[in-house]
Amino acid sequence: MNWTRIAKVADVGDDEGMPFNLDGKELALFRSDGEFFATDNVCTHQYALLSDGYVEDGCVECPLHQAQFDLRTGEAKCAPATQPIRVYPIKVEEDDIYVAIE
Ligand code: FES
Repeated sequence: MNWTRIAKVADVGDDEGMPFNLDGKELALFRSDGEFFATDNVCTHQYALLSDGYVEDGCVECPLHQAQFDLRTGEAKCAPATQPIRVYPIKVEEDDIYVAIE
């Protein structure tokens, strides 16, 4: 797996998201209950950035129409989104966060 360092642990607070770009993709890093997740940043319903959304209990709520996505699986948990977002492997080593995209 090809790991890329994307942030420091202190860069994202709990129940927050932050955008990042990797290989031309718009991605987001989230932290919920102390755990980190990397996903696509663009909602599958229309164009909105999930990193601007509300994060709670391992889910992010889209800021535009309030669809919710599971940060662990990418599953769309409620309308109006029906398609999942992609999720990516993530690891934390000391103070650095790494993500792997294929
Ligand atoms: S753009 Fe995300 S729910 Fe509509």
